[in-house]
Amino acid sequence: MEKEQKKQKRFVLVHGVCHGAWCCVVAVDLAASGISTIKVEEIQSLEDYSKPLLEVLSSDDDEEQVIIVAHSMGGIPAALAADMFPRKIACIVFLTATMPDTKNPPSYPFEKFVPSLTQEELLDIVFRSYDTHVPPLRTVVFGPKFMAKNLYQLSPVQDLELAKLLVRENPALSTDNLSGTKPFTEQGYGSVPRVYIICGEDNQIPEESQRLMISNFPPNEVIEIKGADHMAMFSKSQELSTCLLDIADKHA
Ligand SMILES: *[C@@H]1O[C@H](CO)[C@@H](O)[C@H](O)[C@H]1NC(C)=O
Repeated sequence: MEKEQKKQKRFVLVHGVCHGAWCCVVAVDLAASGISTIKVEEIQSLEDYSKPLLEVLSSDDDEEQVIIVAHSMGGIPAALAADMFPRKIACIVFLTATMPDTKNPPSYPFEKFVPSLTQEELLDIVFRSYDTHVPPLRTVVFGPKFMAKNLYQLSPVQDLELAKLLVRENPALSTDNLSGTKPFTEQGYGSVPRVYIICGEDNQIPEESQRLMISNFPPNEVIEIKGADHMAMFSKSQELSTCLLDIADKHA
């Protein structure tokens, strides 16, 4: 079994003379995610949730532009960041992500175009709420069964196993909860170039839903990774990195 599994490739980024990891790549833990020390109960707004990303962009260097790669629900914090710092962003890449428009609430495309799941299909997802906010805010955390079936079905099993240990309860981003009803602006988010990467085998945001989000607010470019599940960085890591390098070439 183990012998049959394809060897996984991993990126190891090594920086050049006088430099540091800061010149290679910045990966952000949003509040209450990854190794963030913030507790979910402390999050009172979309800005609070997105704060680590906003801090990266509010650096003093006015010359530097970044390419944001937003995965899944990360599309909403990315769009907020673009709305606040449009000139800091060369382009946003939406990787099978919720791509907000500039007319509707931030989570409208997800609520409108992604089929809602029945109680049975939700499997072991757990919703909760916290009352340090009035009215209370909803949270969500994925369970192992849901992750195996809807998110990681084509990804290496070791990535799934690690993810099962690392997922954390996060605020649910929805119109009736944290992300609210206020659309992002045309001059802010709307002015930033966008690329959408379609993941063809995504069980969570089906290809059709991704295409509907694209027609709802057409990006500058659409790329497709055919055999990718929701976690393209694991199921099609090579293809994804090639894709991102091409995008960087075009937009840098
Ligand atoms: C969040 O959703 C819950 C459940 O639908 C609701 O009771 C609560 O009022 C909502 N919170 C906000 C801030 O709208």
